Order: sequence, then structure tokens, then C-alpha cells
Amino acid sequence: MGNAGLIVFMYVGIGLLIMGFSVLLFMVKFELGPVSNLSPGRRWLMTLVLGSGMVAFSIKLFILATLVKFPDLTIKWSIAEQKGPLVVDWEQLNKDAPGIRLPGIQQAYVWRTLPDRAPFPAWNPTTPEKVALGKRLFHDKALSIDRTLSCSSCHDVLNGAGEDHRSGSLGVGGQVGGRNAPTVWNSGFQSVLFWDGRAASLEDQAIGPPLNPVEMGMPSAEAVEQRIRDNPSYREPFARAFGADQPITIKQITAAIAAYERTLITTDTPYDRFVRGDEEALSKAQLRGMALFQSVGCILCHAGPNFSAASVFDPPQEPRRLFPVFDSPKYMTRYNLLKDTGSNPSGSKQAAWRVPSLRNVALTAPYLHNGSVDNLSEVVRIMATVQRGKRISNDVNDNKTIVWSGQDKTLARIESAPLSDRDVNDLVEFLKSLSSDSLLARSKSGAL
Ligand code: HEC
Ligand code: HEC
Repeated sequence: MGNAGLIVFMYVGIGLLIMGFSVLLFMVKFELGPVSNLSPGRRWLMTLVLGSGMVAFSIKLFILATLVKFPDLTIKWSIAEQKGPLVVDWEQLNKDAPGIRLPGIQQAYVWRTLPDRAPFPAWNPTTPEKVALGKRLFHDKALSIDRTLSCSSCHDVLNGAGEDHRSGSLGVGGQVGGRNAPTVWNSGFQSVLFWDGRAASLEDQAIGPPLNPVEMGMPSAEAVEQRIRDNPSYREPFARAFGADQPITIKQITAAIAAYERTLITTDTPYDRFVRGDEEALSKAQLRGMALFQSVGCILCHAGPNFSAASVFDPPQEPRRLFPVFDSPKYMTRYNLLKDTGSNPSGSKQAAWRVPSLRNVALTAPYLHNGSVDNLSEVVRIMATVQRGKRISNDVNDNKTIVWSGQDKTLARIESAPLSDRDVNDLVEFLKSLSSDSLLARSKSGAL
């Protein structure tokens, strides 16, 4: 819509205004004037008073109509900063990429890019001084009892993708933990942290590892404070970050680490470039994968710009989900997935976990809370089967599933297209589009 459209629109508006005024003049001269016996001067006054209301109203209408009709020319500059959401035309995408099945796409899902700044709590704004201090603390081995481990030992952010590539992390004294280390990249956008979502903020989270006996093994928060106070070179940076005359406290230590973590953001991905308008950014397979990611319902849990319902983006959703939703003894036994039940009480038949972000997932094997699966395609099969009740089959006519409901004692037939190996592959390709270029370049140069 160009300037020509705007000019026609303005002419029509001005024409209508002139018409309105003529009607008003006509009414005052031949109707209202004679009835109320006004002098010619007062008739003009009356026309002016009535007319000014009309003009004000038309100006309002005009402004509103222009904003609505020409958002590109009027309000786009003010929303450009937010790197606007992109609504994908699924019908067109489906036509462009024949072969994909998109059952049940009823509404357009808004695919969004990550903002380049993470939100922070009001009491702990992200300042450059705090970030610099937090970065130093994150890499300081003084936070562990035997001075062998820093946060970055398990969350390698300088040379890796923010984790350690192990199923269970290696803590002090060679102890192996029961859970996989998630990446800290983009954790600033998560609404709750840890696999089971037990920490409500990065500040709360950061006190966990130093005091965890199988991670950094410090005896108490006071001991952590003392370690940092003992190092005189920390005085100046703490004073700059928090003000000169305060003693170093655990609250400041965790606040600085959290501020640093909030700057660990990756928006340099093919997916984000695609959402910002670069149509060439995704391959055909990735586009099909993206469509499947929606139609299969991965977005029910891995929703929003950080691909996790447990993130700070609207609308707020339940951050923890059952896993498995559909029983699949095959996968559950093979990968020992029910030993740890996450945030559900132990002994429960179903486990519940915080929905993890899928950004950089192709760079952060092994997968799941216990790091039991080392291949992304297998995780996608598990997710499709146990979270969405899908079958994996290459037989295109095989779209009837018979389900036995033990509770109702009935057999039901559900029509649902299975996922083919190609579909699984396309989903994996799409997940690869969430990898940051810079993290990927490091992995190619052998650093990961
Ligand atoms: C011994 C390895 C190890 C060390 C050292 C370590 N972590 Fe972790 N980190 C883990 C593991 C394992 C988890 C997952 C634990 C869980 O969910 O129960 C985790 C989880 C996290 C998370 C949550 C991420 C998310 O998406 O939920 C953050 C943030 C984090 N660590 C930051 C830190 C910070 C800050 C430090 C240093 C103070 C640190 N870690 C030290 C292994 C480690
Ligand atoms: C009902 C909610 C739900 C749905 C639907 C769902 N997921 Fe998940 N996803 C989860 C949860 C919860 C976890 C963590 C499970 C665990 O670690 O034990 C997870 C983990 C993952 C992981 C591993 C992440 C990591 O870092 O280890 C991948 C990859 C993944 N999902 C992809 C998908 C794909 C692809 C789909 C669609 C086929 C999908 N998910 C559908 C809830 C869901």
C-alpha cells in the first residue's frame, strides 16, 4: 500500500467533511435558524460551534483510520524495535512444500524471535558492572570446596554450548550427579529453572550448585561469602556493582551471577532470521519440520520464542508437564525414564518436568533429564510417541489406531496420520535451525 492510496483516502475524507459542513450550513440556514429566530451573526456562531465538534470528530476518525489502514506508514516505526511477530501463512507454506501433512491446523500460530535483552526483577537490574562481576564469579573455581570447579566447568559458555556433554555432571571429588546439565544460554527467559522447575529465578538458582554436595560442595552460604571476601581483588568490582560501603553477601554474589546469565542470549539462528523476514534462511526440510512442529502439537509445550511453555513470554502457561503423557513402556524402560519422577512425588506412575527450551538443542546432547538419549532423532521419536500419542510408520495408508481404554473397557479407533521417518527427519532439521551460528562455529572448529 503506497502513498497513492493514502492520497485517495485523504481526498475521500476531505470530500465527506465538506459534504457534512454543507448539510450543517443548510440546516442552520433553513431549519434551526428560522425556528429559533436567531440573528444572522448568531446563526454563524451556531454553525461554527456545531461544525467544530464535527471537525474534531472527523480528525479523530481520520487519525484512527490512517493508523489502522496504513500501519506501515504510521506506527511501524514504533513497533520495529520489538522485531515484530510473524504470522506464517500455513496454507501457502503447505502448497510450497508438498508432502507435508498438516492435520488440524485451525489457527495460525505466531512464531516469534527472542528479544535481545532478558527481563530482570526490579530489585536486580542488569548493569554492565554487575554483568562483568557476574562473569568473573561464574568462572571462579573459588566457589567450590576444593577449588576445582567453577559454574563454567559444567556450563561451558566460552568454548561450548553452556553445558558439559555428559549424562550426569561431574562434581567435586569425581562424584557423578543424576541429572544432565542444561545449557545456561537463554535461561534468562525461563520462568522456572532446573529440570523439575524448583527454582523461581536465576538468583534463587545460583545458590544451589555451590551448596550442593555432589556439585561444588561448599558447607554454607557464609562459607561462600567468606571465600569471595578473602580475595581482595573482588572488593573494587563489588563496590562498583553494589555501592562502596556494603559487605559482600551471598545475595550480591547470586545477583551478579544472574545478571551475567541474563546476557547469555542467542538470536543468531536461521530460525530467527526467517522470522525477521529472510525467507531463504530455512531449507525446505526445515520449513516442513516447522509446519510439523505446529501440526503435531510440539508447540503445545515447546511454545513461544524460547520454545518452552516454562518461559516468561505471554500468555503464561503451566511450566511443568507430564512426561510421559501416553504410556510407552518401551521407551520408559529402555531409557530408565521413570526412576526420577521430577516434580511429581516419587513412586508416581507419571513423572512431571519443566518444559525445556529447545534453542541450541542440536548442540547440547545428551538429552532428557537423565541424559539417557544421545541422539536428537530418537528424542523426537520419543516425544512424538509419548507426548503426542503418534506412531512412527512409513505406510501412508496406516492412519488408523486402535486404542484399548482399560478404564472404560472399550476399544476405540482413532484416525491419526502416523509420522514417517522423513517427518522425524524434518523435525530434527527444524530443531537444527534453532542453533546459534556462533555456538555452531565453535563446535565446527572442534571446541565443543
Ligand atoms: C557439577 C556440575 C555443575 C556445576 C559446577 C554447576 N552446575 Fe548448574 N546445573 C548442573 C546440573 C546437573 C543442573 C540440572 C540440575 C537439576 O535440574 O536438578 C544445573 C542447572 C543449572 C541451571 C538451570 C538451567 C535451566 O534451564 O533450568 C542454571 C541457570 C545453572 N545450573 C547455573 C549454574 C551456576 C550459576 C553455577 C555456579 C554457581 C552452576 N550452575 C554450577 C550442573 C552444574
Ligand atoms: C506435553 C508436553 C510436551 C509436548 C507435546 C512435547 N514435549 Fe518435548 N519435552 C517436554 C518435556 C516435559 C521435556 C523434558 C522431559 C525430560 O527431560 O524428562 C521435553 C523434552 C524435549 C526434548 C529434549 C530437550 C533436552 O534438552 O534434553 C526435545 C528435543 C523435545 N522435547 C522435542 C519435542 C518435539 C519435537 C515435540 C513434538 C513432537 C515435543 N517435544 C512435544 C514436553 C513436551
